[in-house]
Amino acid sequence: MADDGATAAAPSEDELRLFAFQVWSYKQGELVSLLIHIGSRLGLFQALRDRGPTGAADLALGTGLDERWLLEWLRAMGAARLLHWGEDDTFTLTPAGAAVLADDEGSLFYAAGAFGPPPDPAYVEDLAGAFRTGRGFPYDRRGPEGAHTTERMLGPWTRLALVPRILPALDGVVERLEHGGEVADIGCGAGVALLALARAFPGSSFRGYDISRHAIERASQLVGESGLSNVELHQAGADALPDEATFDLVLTLDCLHDMTRPEETIGAIRRALKPDGTWLVKDIRCTPDPRGNLVNPMAALMYGFSITSCMSSALSEPGGAGLGTLGLHPELLEMMTARAGFTRFAVHDFDEPANLYYEVRP
Ligand SMILES: C[S@@+](CC[C@H](N)C(=O)[O-])C[C@H]1O[C@@H](n2cnc3c(N)ncnc32)[C@H](O)[C@@H]1O
Repeated sequence: MADDGATAAAPSEDELRLFAFQVWSYKQGELVSLLIHIGSRLGLFQALRDRGPTGAADLALGTGLDERWLLEWLRAMGAARLLHWGEDDTFTLTPAGAAVLADDEGSLFYAAGAFGPPPDPAYVEDLAGAFRTGRGFPYDRRGPEGAHTTERMLGPWTRLALVPRILPALDGVVERLEHGGEVADIGCGAGVALLALARAFPGSSFRGYDISRHAIERASQLVGESGLSNVELHQAGADALPDEATFDLVLTLDCLHDMTRPEETIGAIRRALKPDGTWLVKDIRCTPDPRGNLVNPMAALMYGFSITSCMSSALSEPGGAGLGTLGLHPELLEMMTARAGFTRFAVHDFDEPANLYYEVRP
């Protein structure tokens, strides 16, 4: 039986054209995304922000890059409506464009890491194979570049929001860390949250855990460069947490849905958290009914992240839970935490388009 929006009748010429346009717009998006990456990498958005309307010759003078290549890139960005294309072949980055594209670190709107280079063809081959075997790949399959991409994608928001906005919303957490608390970050990635917290609360101690060798190597490098002495890193999952109640605060930021055994992690957190401690979860905003996710205009992007990273990671061991990017909705998380013996569960919505936060307590 035909579903809503799908009919059995032969398509009209207009429907065919519209459908083909939709398909080709994804191809256009792929290439524009690559050009955004190249522009970011070469500092072109910053160079345009600092000038008024600019032609290729001026941009070439200012950047030392080749004029002909710049002209084609400028025209591509103009055609993509990311630059205003003036009649005299000059191009302008609008203030909104500058706020989104020219500030990798300070913008809440642009997760630069999402615009990384295209995936390695061998990885694409492996992903296609996973549709036969059912078995996915841990984050390390994408090499050091994968950890770097994740850091650039998730890091800016963590640096800008975790200490000033998110922690103060949690009951008593800032006070505890100001007096010296024990903190664990599980699935810590490149350690962006650990560094932000360790700087803000020098009297507290921080332990980061991640199963990814590349993420822990990157985190070690950043901790070394920071000169901080209150951060310890472990290449391990939650099974390496102490069995006794140790931590005042545990974090799992954007990683529970990536885990093959999230329930084991939740159980280990329950044991390692002090009776008056807090567990802060950041996970993707999603709904129990998968079609409910269609209100998100970026739902297809999220499913794309799932197949290439999150669900793949969560299926990287036999019997993996395989939740994936849009698989851990508030009702499911609340049920899982209750099953592990947590009694308090509060949802925090910081108006962050992709994420919800949860304050979970014994
Ligand atoms: C999307 S990244 C998030 C990293 C970091 N929390 C952040 O917000 O930037 C997910 C991380 O979870 C890690 N991960 C996946 N399964 C894990 C497990 N069972 N235990 C610990 N870390 C895990 C991955 O290696 C990856 O670094």
